[in-house]
Amino acid sequence: MPDRIAYCSYAKINLYLDVLNRRRDGYHNIETIFQTVSLADQLIFTEAGPGIALECSAQELDEGATNLAYRAGKLLQERTGCSRGVHIHLDKKIPVAAGLAGGSGNAAAALVALNQLWDLGLPDAQLRELALELGSDVPYCMVGGTIAATVRGEELTPLPPLSETWFVLVHPPIAVSTTRVFNSPKLILRGNPPAGGPTPAFRGAIEALECRDFARAVFNILEGPVFADYPRLAAAEERLLAEGCLAAGMSGSGPTLFGICLSKEDAERVAVTFDDFQTSVVTTVPAGIERTD
Ligand code: C5P
Repeated sequence: MPDRIAYCSYAKINLYLDVLNRRRDGYHNIETIFQTVSLADQLIFTEAGPGIALECSAQELDEGATNLAYRAGKLLQERTGCSRGVHIHLDKKIPVAAGLAGGSGNAAAALVALNQLWDLGLPDAQLRELALELGSDVPYCMVGGTIAATVRGEELTPLPPLSETWFVLVHPPIAVSTTRVFNSPKLILRGNPPAGGPTPAFRGAIEALECRDFARAVFNILEGPVFADYPRLAAAEERLLAEGCLAAGMSGSGPTLFGICLSKEDAERVAVTFDDFQTSVVTTVPAGIERTD
């Protein structure tokens, strides 16, 4: 085994997100369509003992116990009794706390990379269980691509991969608390999950996506509470549509917005109209993490 392993972890967007009901564990049953896009963090894992040392390019990120890459390493050590250590270099490109699962992707990469670096030999099923302990999006981030997800977001059903599609991501400079959004009195819950599979609305969105009918597929119930608190986000989404995007929505609990465009050139044209926000032009990728060494 090499003593240095490199991975990248991609950002995800939620093309569709509905919240059904509150669960006894405090989380919510959701229905969502995830898609990974070509905005990625880089992680280098170098064997170094005995603890976990994390060095991160983003100053606003904790390099200790609250960082998800660090926590992934700690969790693996605790559960396997492994006493080997690691130095993790994390080069952050995905905005933090942005609804893009950047931290969850870092955790997914750390689980998979450290399982290799430390010769732990944990099977995928066990890694997926640990992933869910770290966060609702982490099991998806291990896989990536076009996926329908239910329960907390960990029950994954692969969909036909979305063929090349270009997006403008708009990054408003505000921090949104996911916990606060999910527990907002302004959030309208759809109701208990039906016994026999997805709700008709979710099935409709999946069918619409297969025909690339983005206007019918894109939806996010969390826009209700978030846009009520931040009207600038609602206005930015309207601007994406006014600029000719095929559909526009918010990713996760925000604040990142995305517009779906006809081509890369079209996405670049829309992006430059947003001189008041940071933007990224990205396309679909079929994986959540990728080994890069
Ligand atoms: O799982 P994760 O730590 O990413 O979730 C952050 C917060 O989002 C949770 O503490 C919870 O309040 C909320 N959440 C939820 N239901 C989900 C996913 C997240 O209520 N399915």
